[in-house]
Amino acid sequence: MPLSKSKRRRQILARQAFSHMLHVEFNRSLTLIADRDLLVNNIESKILQIAPVNRIIIFLLNSETEKYVYGSKQPDELFDKIQFTLNSKLVNWLSVNETYFHVSRLSNAMSYLSDNEQDLIREADIDLIFPLKVINHLNGFVLLGKRSDREKFSRYDIDLLKLLLDQAAFALENTALYEEQSARIKKMYRADRLAILGQLAAGAAHEIRNPLTAIRSTIQYLGKGMHDADKLEMINELMEEVDRINKIVQGLLSFAKPSELEKSKVDIVQLLQQTLVLLNNTIIQKQIDVDLNISVKNTVVTADASQLKQVFLNVILNAVEAMENSMEKKLTLGVESGRSLDYQSRYLLISVTDSGKGIEPNDIENIFIPFYTTKKDGTGLGLPISYGIVNQHGGELEINSAPGKGVTVVIKLMQTL
Ligand SMILES: Nc1ncnc2c1ncn2[C@@H]1O[C@H](COP(=O)(O)OP(=O)(O)O)[C@@H](O)[C@H]1O
Ligand SMILES: [Mg+2]
Repeated sequence: MPLSKSKRRRQILARQAFSHMLHVEFNRSLTLIADRDLLVNNIESKILQIAPVNRIIIFLLNSETEKYVYGSKQPDELFDKIQFTLNSKLVNWLSVNETYFHVSRLSNAMSYLSDNEQDLIREADIDLIFPLKVINHLNGFVLLGKRSDREKFSRYDIDLLKLLLDQAAFALENTALYEEQSARIKKMYRADRLAILGQLAAGAAHEIRNPLTAIRSTIQYLGKGMHDADKLEMINELMEEVDRINKIVQGLLSFAKPSELEKSKVDIVQLLQQTLVLLNNTIIQKQIDVDLNISVKNTVVTADASQLKQVFLNVILNAVEAMENSMEKKLTLGVESGRSLDYQSRYLLISVTDSGKGIEPNDIENIFIPFYTTKKDGTGLGLPISYGIVNQHGGELEINSAPGKGVTVVIKLMQTL
């Protein structure tokens, strides 16, 4: 029986009030949340308020790797089979059409998608796919299964979902910017602290160097006329200690005043390979399993090759040393490409991952401080020097770790577009 006119009107008004309320509520809660996981949770629960769907999968763009990754906490095994990137057909369709993809209504458009994507949509019983689009790029997309009450999605459901997800896209972009900004502030703070420490260290290094040279030559002189084997051994030990101090001072100076960069076009993969050759003996001796993963064609940057080699050497040596007592000794070097969030620049991400003992959370902040070491004969200068060199190149050096789970050092170097 058709609804009476006034009943219909009442229904429409009620719906309008409901959507207005949701709209206000979305806005309020979405813009208040700065934490991405919380935001994703919130979006998922709002979707369920609008329509009871039996599946929600949110994919978000990782702008560093240019791949879409699960936004939801609970990954769906089905979706492990496929990797969405900026070049995926589905991503293209959503970017170009700027609207949702209604699977049951767009059988023609389905053929545009790749076979993998079509299979997946069928297998996961997906009915609606919404873009999360912000200004000029697809920040992510949301796949929804069928309604669990077996109803079809109404025009009204879809309008509300669209409203929600348009707002969600902006809120998600905001959290990404927010995260980027807090990371930047933290780095600035670190760079500042390092600069001051560097000046102090340079002052001290100069003061130490002169007396040290005098001590060294005096010991050498004393050793010349010495025939007593025991005493000679003591002299040798003294010399070794002096040389160790010298090495530290040398490191300090190079940290405080890195020499001018001599830039040229450098192939990062070649440089990594050269570094591995330098460490070949150690790697074989310690039975370390080395993997090199390169997922980008152009691996050339403009940089100072010998200084970068120094960085790679420091970082890889740290990885090797951290695996001293590990059952599994696996060193993975990766080279990927990425883009800045505003799409203005392109960079290489070079990662060094080990399966060593990892770093305690409390130590993470300290490891960039000159002389901070947890090793018996460490200098504590490898990381601060590396950090300085990468910074001088306009790049970034970051360390991610969990105790017992090993460490990943990521070095980000700009590539000219
Ligand atoms: N890959 C790694 N795994 C575990 N700890 C690490 C790793 N890299 C660096 N560290 C920690 O950071 C500290 C500082 O490193 P670094 O500046 O190279 O000095 P050093 O190697 O001489 O100790 C190390 O002593 C160690 O505690
Ligand atoms: Mg080191």
